[in-house]
Amino acid sequence: MCGIIGYIGFRKASEVLLKALKTLEYRGYDSAGIAISNENGIEIKKGAGKVDDVATDLSFISLDGKIGVGHSRWATHGRVCNENAHPHSNCSKNVALVHNGVIENYLELKEELLKKGHKFESETDTETVAHLIEENLKSMAAEKAFSESIKRLEGSYSIVAIIKGEKRLFAARRNSPLILGIGENENFLASDIPAVLPYTKKIIPIEEEMLVSVSDSEYKIMDFGGMQVNPKVLEVDWDSTVAEKGGFAHFMLKEIYDQRISLKESLSAKTEEARKILDSAQNIHLIACGTSYHASFVFATLLEKELKKNAKAFIASDYQFVANPSNETVVIALTQSGETADTIQAVKFAKSKGAKLLSLTNVVGSSITRLSDSIVYLNAGPEVSVAATKTFSSQLAVIYKLIYGNSYLSNIPEIISNSLSQEQKIKELAQKIKDSKSIFFLGRGLSYPIAMEGALKLKEISYIHAEAYPAGELKHGPLSLIEEGVPVIALAPSDETKAKMLGNIKEVKARGGFVIALTDNPKLEKEVDAVIEIEKTRAELYPFAMLPALQLLAYYVSIFRGIDPDRPRNLAKSVTVE
Ligand code: G6P
Repeated sequence: MCGIIGYIGFRKASEVLLKALKTLEYRGYDSAGIAISNENGIEIKKGAGKVDDVATDLSFISLDGKIGVGHSRWATHGRVCNENAHPHSNCSKNVALVHNGVIENYLELKEELLKKGHKFESETDTETVAHLIEENLKSMAAEKAFSESIKRLEGSYSIVAIIKGEKRLFAARRNSPLILGIGENENFLASDIPAVLPYTKKIIPIEEEMLVSVSDSEYKIMDFGGMQVNPKVLEVDWDSTVAEKGGFAHFMLKEIYDQRISLKESLSAKTEEARKILDSAQNIHLIACGTSYHASFVFATLLEKELKKNAKAFIASDYQFVANPSNETVVIALTQSGETADTIQAVKFAKSKGAKLLSLTNVVGSSITRLSDSIVYLNAGPEVSVAATKTFSSQLAVIYKLIYGNSYLSNIPEIISNSLSQEQKIKELAQKIKDSKSIFFLGRGLSYPIAMEGALKLKEISYIHAEAYPAGELKHGPLSLIEEGVPVIALAPSDETKAKMLGNIKEVKARGGFVIALTDNPKLEKEVDAVIEIEKTRAELYPFAMLPALQLLAYYVSIFRGIDPDRPRNLAKSVTVE
């Protein structure tokens, strides 16, 4: 969480930083700020609120200077308020820095600095680092003062700092993402690739425990011992317009529609090596969080049913407490960002027991790729909206390719397009259910993880309580919650679950529930209150037919409740704290 950006070059830094912060906002959006180094020293503008609310006032843009750092915050230490917004500085205001992560030993460091007379302005862990650098600057040159300060930090961080009078950016990385973007007479440091795409496609993902020192024309990357390294420069093939709204009201809606194209790219993912790993494995653990967990649930089901493997999907944050991996286990991590701390920690645990790691991710050079024995890229392009949409269908597409090979999968993009044609009907239904207190999603078999995804989408962007149940479980408890008018979204495709789903729908109807069925079965129409039609297809492809309808339903409920679906409260797209 938190988006950080550093710029040094020939452009007006404030403009570059603000544009990048808009792109990085999905990483956190409770506060924003920038610091610029110029002939007046270091000037800082910051405040609580979304980038658009705080940072577009003229005082931000009018800051002159060609070197600077910026930050969009997702609070960990310290309330959301102006003082706690980044960048943070020190007593003599000769340092400004931005930070993503958590400094675990900050209280100890702060105490030491307080004793030396430092005065703190915020409640954050980050401010400690600025004072630490100030202290070291008394006896060392800038680069050394920075690196010696970093070496004292415990926890996770990507940090970018500017120091008065220095024509360089100083950065460090440990357990939080950081990339270097290399331009012509300008360079960038950022949490994520899309922030630098308008200027360059040349990227170096910074490795764990590295220090970076960057001028406008050169860069130096060193390990903590000072040894210089020369990593390969990657050329990313993402188009910067993919990270723009392109006429849609929100990124989420755009990304739902992007699926018609992104799925074609995902279906061309290179899966041969990964398939060999699956063929030789018997025990497979799938590790993921959030939406990626739902994809891993589908994966586990197909590995069991189609490839006859022992496969189980685990919630990443619980993995070390419940799983027993060994050197006979193949672990598959699903993470679109490749940076989710819970997933990374679970993977490290599995690797420490000798497990082999295959990962499915969307981000080239992300943290998970450095831990993996084999990687399959989703090729979905950058996803900006906090709620995952196109990256989920891309995960499914890659999973299907791994399981079924190429046969008949090529019509998945068309199935998605047809499903999107129900938009008007879905909008009307969203209007009907928008004031509900609770909404239930039911499915069986492969439809159950899709129901879970539908419920997650709805709750995260509409703030309505939503829950998914395997439909057969209803009678074992949740049926008591069904009363007159409670919306129940039933995933009822014409596959092997058809007859049993009908029984469950009748149970709900008998208690007065308002049933919306996603179905290709015309006979269901008279059994339910509303139908969202889905395409008749091969049984295993129904998830693709139902998913866009659920994404659109969540989107429109959010809109009708006056919520910004791209920036739901309290959430962030990439969660880099455990
Ligand atoms: C956050 C996001 C979710 C996402 C989850 C896992 O919670 O808000 O949308 O599904 O992280 O992210 P990953 O990048 O590991 O797939």
